[in-house]
Amino acid sequence: MKSIFRWIRQRWMLSMGIAALLGVFSVSVGISGAYVLAHTSTEEFCVSCHEMSYNFAEYKGTIHDTNRTGVRAICTDCHVPHEPGPLVLAKLKATKDLYYTYISPSIDTPEKFEAKRAVMAQTVWRTMKANDSHQCRSCHREDKMNLELQTAKAKSRHAKGKAEGKTCIECHFAIAHKEPEGPGPAELFADEPAK
Ligand code: HEC
Ligand code: HEC
Ligand code: HEC
Ligand code: HEC
Repeated sequence: MKSIFRWIRQRWMLSMGIAALLGVFSVSVGISGAYVLAHTSTEEFCVSCHEMSYNFAEYKGTIHDTNRTGVRAICTDCHVPHEPGPLVLAKLKATKDLYYTYISPSIDTPEKFEAKRAVMAQTVWRTMKANDSHQCRSCHREDKMNLELQTAKAKSRHAKGKAEGKTCIECHFAIAHKEPEGPGPAELFADEPAK
């Protein structure tokens, strides 16, 4: 210990330099990490690949893109978790999409995209079923929904859905994109226990 202090005293200029460098280094790692997270959370980033794959064209004009008040849900609001841990995990998992874009393109033509749509949709539904539609709930708070202001149909279905332990995505799917071929979430999860 003593010898370290002696070393620092004798070479304090050098030590200050090293300390300053370490400081700059960790701040810039933090800033660039934050920059990467912020950039990869924009609509433009997702659309840079998914414009090709119609998800953007289909989303355009839906209630989550444009509505009376101008409050929107963009790609990441529905597809990326909000807590830091799951957020970073999701970003790491999404690096597979780099492979499927540049090395073995899987959705680069309309035909390939359509062939894969149902599988991708099911991946999304499974994620949302497992996290109890966390992304939807980050905006639509069930406890703050004023059922009295909802349509009679919405009101009765929401009461029933709650009693049966159903999650949002089991009833509200294909709200931002075209409905995929094959089973919807209701059939897909029919044999699985409710939450
Ligand atoms: C570098 C290009 C690229 C970018 C940028 C990109 N994606 Fe993808 N994405 C893909 C590819 C390719 C697939 C198909 C992967 C496969 O075949 O399994 C995909 C699949 C998906 C799926 C289907 C489910 C799944 O995990 O396979 C969703 C949802 C999705 N992307 C959402 C997003 C969102 C939201 C963003 C913005 C945060 C985004 N993508 C940014 C290329 C990209
Ligand atoms: C970023 C916030 C946000 C997220 C995330 C979000 N929504 Fe919305 N949602 C809105 C807004 C804003 C409206 C439009 C309200 C209005 O103007 O009437 C809306 C409208 C709706 C409507 C009403 C449609 C209509 O025609 O009246 C439904 C149903 C809905 N959302 C379901 C969902 C589901 C299911 C999810 C998850 C997959 C989700 N939302 C995610 C903000 C969000
Ligand atoms: C059991 C099925 C079911 C579940 C579960 C469900 N909904 Fe609905 N929801 C409906 C139906 C049916 C409507 C009425 C649609 C219509 O009128 O065309 C509706 C309407 C809505 C509306 C529009 C309300 C209005 O009055 O215009 C919103 C917003 C909404 N749901 C959000 C959600 C969210 C968020 C969740 C999860 C917390 C959820 N719903 C869970 C079936 C369900
Ligand atoms: C309101 C929530 C919401 C928004 C906003 C949204 N998505 Fe989705 N997305 C979903 C849901 C739910 C699914 C599962 C399939 C379905 O129900 O349509 C899905 C499915 C997908 C898929 C799988 C293929 C398919 O068509 O089913 C891709 C890729 C995708 N979304 C990309 C995007 C991109 C890119 C954006 C932004 C331009 C976006 N999503 C905006 C809710 C959303």
